[in-house]
Amino acid sequence: MHTFSAMYCSEAIAETPAVAYKLFFKAAIAIPIWHYLLGMLLLCMGFLYNLLELHFFHDLFTGFRGSPVLLTYNSSSDLYRGVVSKCRTLHGRYLATPWLSSPHIQTSFLNFFGKPPRVSYKRQLFHASDGGTFALDWLRHFDVSGVTTHRYRDICKDDTTPIVVMIPGLTSDSASPYMKHLAFNTAKHGWNVVVSNHRGLGGVSVTTDCFYNAGWTGDVREVIKYLHHEYPEAPLFVVGTSIGANILVKYLGEDGENVPVAGAAAVSSPWDLLIGSRFISRRLLQKLYDRALTIGLQGYAQLHKSRYSRLANWEGIEKSRTIRDFDTHATCLVGNYESADTYYRHSSSCSFVQRVSVPLLCISALDDPVCTREAIPFDECRANKNTVLAITQHGGHLAFFEGIAGSSLWWVRAVNEFFEALHSSPFMHKQKAQNIDPHSAVMQSSVDQGPYINVTDDGMVAATDNGRSDVDVEELFKEKKDHDQNNRTVSAGEEHVFTSGVNLSPAVRNPGKSWEFQGHEYCRKVLISGFTTKQDVNMVACLYSHHIDLASGWCSTWFHLQKEVQKSLARKDTKMTDHHFVSQILYRITHLQRRKILYVKYWDI
Ligand SMILES: *[C@@H]1O[C@H](CO)[C@@H](O)[C@H](O)[C@H]1NC(C)=O
Ligand SMILES: *[C@@H]1O[C@H](CO)[C@@H](O)[C@H](O)[C@H]1NC(C)=O
Ligand SMILES: *[C@@H]1O[C@H](CO)[C@@H](O)[C@H](O)[C@H]1NC(C)=O
Repeated sequence: MHTFSAMYCSEAIAETPAVAYKLFFKAAIAIPIWHYLLGMLLLCMGFLYNLLELHFFHDLFTGFRGSPVLLTYNSSSDLYRGVVSKCRTLHGRYLATPWLSSPHIQTSFLNFFGKPPRVSYKRQLFHASDGGTFALDWLRHFDVSGVTTHRYRDICKDDTTPIVVMIPGLTSDSASPYMKHLAFNTAKHGWNVVVSNHRGLGGVSVTTDCFYNAGWTGDVREVIKYLHHEYPEAPLFVVGTSIGANILVKYLGEDGENVPVAGAAAVSSPWDLLIGSRFISRRLLQKLYDRALTIGLQGYAQLHKSRYSRLANWEGIEKSRTIRDFDTHATCLVGNYESADTYYRHSSSCSFVQRVSVPLLCISALDDPVCTREAIPFDECRANKNTVLAITQHGGHLAFFEGIAGSSLWWVRAVNEFFEALHSSPFMHKQKAQNIDPHSAVMQSSVDQGPYINVTDDGMVAATDNGRSDVDVEELFKEKKDHDQNNRTVSAGEEHVFTSGVNLSPAVRNPGKSWEFQGHEYCRKVLISGFTTKQDVNMVACLYSHHIDLASGWCSTWFHLQKEVQKSLARKDTKMTDHHFVSQILYRITHLQRRKILYVKYWDI
């Protein structure tokens, strides 16, 4: 016995691999095939469970209690003590609907089904000062109350019912499921709702060469001014979602105290578009979102193909596989950014959070598959007493489904509760600065209120307080109009579209320098209506360049520009028309300070 086993062992040791494999295959063949299939299935399920970031078992083992909401705020914040501490939703826990316990499933479900309530909006076409048109979709509280007698009533001018303005996300409009959830529930609370659709969405065609983008705050600014003017007694609350949240926070940061907004909420904001752009191209699943969003953007471009093919690189748009491709071939060319990265850096709201002066609730989920947690500005929110950041473990992108039926969204409830608590507290923001009427600000403001800028031959800038004698702005403007009407021969390719730049400090943050702002408005007006005289050109160039100096503190800009102007003037007697001349100058200005100050589109360079 002893010798046999010794012999066997020595043989086995001598031929270890061969014998071992033989035995192994024998054993492997003996196992029934369906055991293998079962094993494979389990492996696949494990892989999918991980890939889809499912958290069903985690929820199960924690007894479906959900996870607490993480609040980040400044320890001496009145907003927290007076408002947020009273919000039960924000102090509770969030549990995802058990059959949707994955950020990806939640997000997809929201976009493909979403279980939105039935809403029918009342549409108002809004005309922006640059000639752009977009839709304001209203849902009044009596539209959902079931009382039909009020159906055709309008909101009174002195109505004190709060109005909630909603800014949708990228390529979304008032018909998106989450917008309907939000609009319906807010109106059900007894408040009036208006969805401010982006340009070119919601079935409204684009009427100028100006498209919206992630950093385009002009439209929300105008809408809010308009609403405040129309309904001065109604407190205005604003909710931004996704890209809309980015636009909202950027707007609030840009205008600081000077916004007639009582309170705001930013839900699932991307915060930092550059980080977001890197994140979305990193992993397989994120790439799918990237692709899906790009298809949405291409659909948007298709709607406005004639303009996009003139302004942007249509071939590039069609070939785009990622948002970055699309931004490179479309957004950058239309919005005049040097590159996609420049666009992302300048449009990111994270650098504006610190300057927000109205109560702002920010909601994000850590597992948001589109807007990564890496970009959430915890420190900025902690430093600003006006912001409270509410972070949940789960929820996906704008989804946050809750309840066993998955028919309500947690963030909608949280936002409404926050607004209600804010409304009944003394912490609603009131616009402190003198309010500028939206129409008069655009149509009547002129530089004759403040000092003109004089340019002397040596390139120095002088400001004087009694500039009225220089040019009568209104008269000039009128003249130009007449001229334009008689001579509408400027081809479409030659029009200039101006959008206000990010750094134009609003009048009210610099009370002593309000002329700056008005000067900017004047320039815009002149530039839109076209130039006639050399004086005009000089005036605009001076104002703009002076503005550049003020804003950037980069004085050499002026000298540089001055040289360019002189060079252009010297050439002017050749074939150059005013139009070309101006384009040249503005081209130079934008090239000098494009990132900082103004975005000018030029077609005829
Ligand atoms: C809270 O706000 C104050 C003043 O706004 C600031 O000095 C302080 O640093 C902030 N706290 C934190 C933790 O950032
Ligand atoms: C501005 O320029 C005009 C002529 O170009 C000159 O008459 C006027 O004195 C100047 N004003 C100042 C304040 O330099
Ligand atoms: C219109 O333009 C033509 C040439 O382009 C010019 O001769 C004419 O004077 C202009 N009319 C007006 C009213 O400016």
